[in-house]
Parts: sequence; C-alpha cells; structure tokens
Amino acid sequence: MRIDRRGFAKSLSVAAGVMAAGRWTTVATLPVAAQTAALKDLVPKGWLIGVALNQRQSDGTDTVAVELVTRQFNSITPENLLKFESVQRQPGAFTFEPQDRYVAFGADRGMAVIGHTLVWHSQTPAWVWAGAGGGPADRATLLERMQTHIATVVGRYKGRIRGWDVVNEALNDDGTLRDSPWRRGIGDDYIAKAFEFARQADPGAELYYNDFNLATRPAKRAGAIRIIRDLQQRGLRIDAVGEQGHWRLESPTTTEIDQTITELRATGLKVMITELDVNLLPAVERLAAGQAPSPASNPFVNGLPDDVQQALARRYADAFGVFLRHRDDITRVTFWGVSDGDSWLNRGRVNHPLLWDRQRQPKPAFDEVTRVLAGKTTSSR
Ligand code: XIL
Repeated sequence: MRIDRRGFAKSLSVAAGVMAAGRWTTVATLPVAAQTAALKDLVPKGWLIGVALNQRQSDGTDTVAVELVTRQFNSITPENLLKFESVQRQPGAFTFEPQDRYVAFGADRGMAVIGHTLVWHSQTPAWVWAGAGGGPADRATLLERMQTHIATVVGRYKGRIRGWDVVNEALNDDGTLRDSPWRRGIGDDYIAKAFEFARQADPGAELYYNDFNLATRPAKRAGAIRIIRDLQQRGLRIDAVGEQGHWRLESPTTTEIDQTITELRATGLKVMITELDVNLLPAVERLAAGQAPSPASNPFVNGLPDDVQQALARRYADAFGVFLRHRDDITRVTFWGVSDGDSWLNRGRVNHPLLWDRQRQPKPAFDEVTRVLAGKTTSSR
C-alpha cells in the first residue's frame, strides 16, 4: 500500500517542528525519515552528489534544510562564503568564523567539502585590483595579492577542503579570455599563476577550472580545453573541469550535454556538473531595484502548472540519463541550492529550478532523478 506522502508528512511535521524549533510551526515539512530515497545512496560508486549551502544552512539555523542536506547529499559547496569578498573584504582583514562553520558542517557529516572560488572577476572587492595612485595595480602587486589570498584561504583549510574552483568564469562565449581585471593587470598567465599558488598552498587538494555555457557554446568549450591544455603543458595540477550547469528546459540539448562531457573528458580530466539548476522563467532584462516584474515575465507566482512540473521532471531525468552514460567520466554533480525558495534564480520573481519546492517537499523532478539513478537507466519514460 502506498501511504499518501503529503498527508503522512503533515501529521509528523508538527512534531518535527516542535522538536526542531521548540515551538509550533506553520510550515508543513516532510520528515526526512519519510523520504525513503536518498540521492547519495543511489549515485554510482565514486560519484559525489552535492549541493550549494547558503549561510543559514551552513550555520545550522535553517534546520529543515540541514536535515534534508544531511540525508540526501555527500558533498557541499558554499554558495557565497568562500568568495573573495566574503573572506577578505578589506586588505589583510580575513574573516573565517562562518567559513569554519561551513567546513565543520561537512566534516561532521563525512562530506566532501568544496571550496568556491579563489580567482574570479565577480564578488571580489575593488581594492584588490586598485593601484596606489588611483589607477589599476601593476602585475607584481596583483600577483602578490593573489598569492596572499590563496595561501591564506587554501592554507587554512589544508587537508579539509577536498578541492577548489581555482579560477571561475575566465572565458567569453566566443572562447577568448574574458577581460577580467585579473587578466588586465597580470596578463593571460594569471590563470596559471592561480593554479600554481593553489597547489603550493595545499598540494593535496584537487584543483578545478569552472565555467558556464560550455555546453551551449562550442567555441567557449574549445576555450576551456585550451586553458586546460595550457595548464597541463606547464606541468601544473588540474584535476577536473566544472560545467556549472545553469540550464533551461530546452537548452542545452542532451546531445550537447553528452558531447560536452565527451570533449572535456578527452583532456584527461574528470568532469563535474558544479552548479546545476533549471531556469523556468523567460529571459528578461534584469529588474531595476524596486521595479516589479511584469506578469508575463513571472508566470509561476502561484506554483508550477502540472505540464511544466512534468517537463522539469523529464528534463532532470534526461540530464541524469546522460550523466549515467558518462558515469566513469563524471565525479560530482552539485545542485545550486537546496530548495526552490533558496535559489539565486528567483531575483525578484518566482522560479522553481530545483528538486525540492518552497515547502521543502520533493518535487516530481526528485522522484524522476531517483528513479533514473535507481534503475541506472539512461533514458526517461
Ligand atoms: C551566485 C549566488 O548563488 C548568489 O547568491 C550571489 O548573489 C551571486 O552568485 N556562477 C557562480 C556562482 O560561480 O558563484 C554564482 O552564485 C552563480 C553563477
């Protein structure tokens, strides 16, 4: 007999809420014990299945998410905490308290703890690239700042952070190197330098190159492969390449995903899907502060219509089908957020990109992913 999951959930969630928060809660949550399937038990041997945590989660205050993450995942990535601006907002003033809690969260649960990210053009304070006279800093100064940052952060978590996204998003869509302030100040070898410094700081840590649109833009993929080959020719350590996996329902196609994994893997590196989510909203200009989205740009305010819910489930099933075909090429799949309400893709609208909904209930997409993983099949229904 099949127990009605939601009814069962409601009856137990009140008790769970009392225990967790010491007071009655109005949010009905599915008790984790009732979620019979756990992604981490179903993925192929050797795979990590991960999720990005926000600070309320790594601090432990979002207890429902903590329980869910503990049950389902064996790897974590910090959504923002280990970015340059979070760690060293002012020159030489490092903050590590919430970062230490993040690392302890993973260590306590035997999870593979990922570091994200060391060298990026975004979420990095302007002082990093500024010279004394008001203009940009020179190469020597930038290399010194880069090395100090990497040595301090990677060094602190030596042996405890499994691997680092050393350089993030260095490419334009056409495969040329992005005009990042790091590159402007140091030159094209800023990427090699970052990997050199990271290896010095923790020779045991895995080192990754991470970027987006590698599946939709063959030229960008070719650029990533050039970066990888350059690092290899220099004799530097690089272990894996991350395709972020910020995808849509129709794009990239499964053929493109398949081709991408094949081509990236041909470098000898393992492939990771590092920031998986499926954006269901129409692409629009970013909203100005305080500007309300138009109804047409925000169609799922009251939830997902069943056809879209099912399309999302099929999309995830198909993607995991491709991943399974490449089970020996892939070492990790990480979702960019726990539940829909946590996702960065909301940004003033209501998106539904993940496997758990705003009430932290598993969606049909979760059921489909577990079905595909359990059957180790490679296609959707
Ligand atoms: C995003 C976070 O999810 C947001 O909370 C933050 O405001 C901006 O950054 N590529 C990356 C991630 O490598 O670090 C980004 O994370 C999403 C895109």
